[in-house]
Amino acid sequence: MNIQWYPGHMTKARRAMEENMKLVDVIVEVRDARLPASSANPDLEKLGKNKKRIILLNKADLADPAVTEQWEAYYAAKGYEPVLLDAREKKRMNEVRRRLSRFAEEKQQKDAKRGILNRSVRIMVAGIPNVGKSTFINSLAGRASTKTGDKPGVTKGIQWIRLGTGLELMDTPGILWPKFEDEQVGIRLALAGTIHEEILPLEELCTYGFQLLQERYPQAVSEAYGIRTDDPHVFLSELAQSCGFLQKGGGTDTARAAKRFLDDWQKGKLGRISLETPPAEETVS
Ligand code: G4P
Repeated sequence: MNIQWYPGHMTKARRAMEENMKLVDVIVEVRDARLPASSANPDLEKLGKNKKRIILLNKADLADPAVTEQWEAYYAAKGYEPVLLDAREKKRMNEVRRRLSRFAEEKQQKDAKRGILNRSVRIMVAGIPNVGKSTFINSLAGRASTKTGDKPGVTKGIQWIRLGTGLELMDTPGILWPKFEDEQVGIRLALAGTIHEEILPLEELCTYGFQLLQERYPQAVSEAYGIRTDDPHVFLSELAQSCGFLQKGGGTDTARAAKRFLDDWQKGKLGRISLETPPAEETVS
């Protein structure tokens, strides 16, 4: 599978992000709690060297709580201070605000020792497209929704949103493209609906998804649809049948069923599903 391409607007976005990053002290990295490793971009490690970093495990409402707990422990052990989040929920923002205020206090104490007074701590939100960066910014800033999509926000200039004493948030998130080094990464991102590019024919993607569910959540399909089979082709055909997706000349429209299956998955109708677990204990550094 070849999905190594890098869209032109992402090159622009990355450049903008590198520039903007020079202006901030703290990076709030948003990842998808269903696939925290695949929704990361390892370059951020390099780009954000010497900056404070918080990892938000967003869309936690769609992820398996038991697996999310494992991820939380994993990142906590690495010192990243993870926060579980549904970015649409404003009340959870207090937890994030508390962490950020603590960073601000630490920074201001350091500044004071060097004779610098009243300098705000500046924050940037960063992550791959569709993980919920804009939703988070809007919730944290307490304002009506504005969408940034995956386009770089370089033209309108940077605005700083005051978050209270000593904290300022860059209104434009830093956007990175996911890393597709392992083909499973692309497949998982597509299954979760994080990338919309067609990386595999739809029915093949569904076969992967179906098999993943069989391994990790063997009840999910039968509970959602009442279909009991371990054959992905039989499943799609039965789903098409039960939804009335039939082809003109006879036979079932499995392509339409595949679309429905993915759509249901991404909306959470198959339950709270995590697509990956943290690496085994011995590789934790
Ligand atoms: P981005 O800036 O990182 O590109 O992502 P954005 O905030 O645009 O969010 C992408 C989609 O994810 C949006 O849905 C948004 O509502 C949804 N979303 C963000 N955070 C969460 C969360 O914690 N849980 C859940 N379940 N969904 C979340 P959309 O369908 O693209 O748009 P809309 O439904 O908001 O109209």
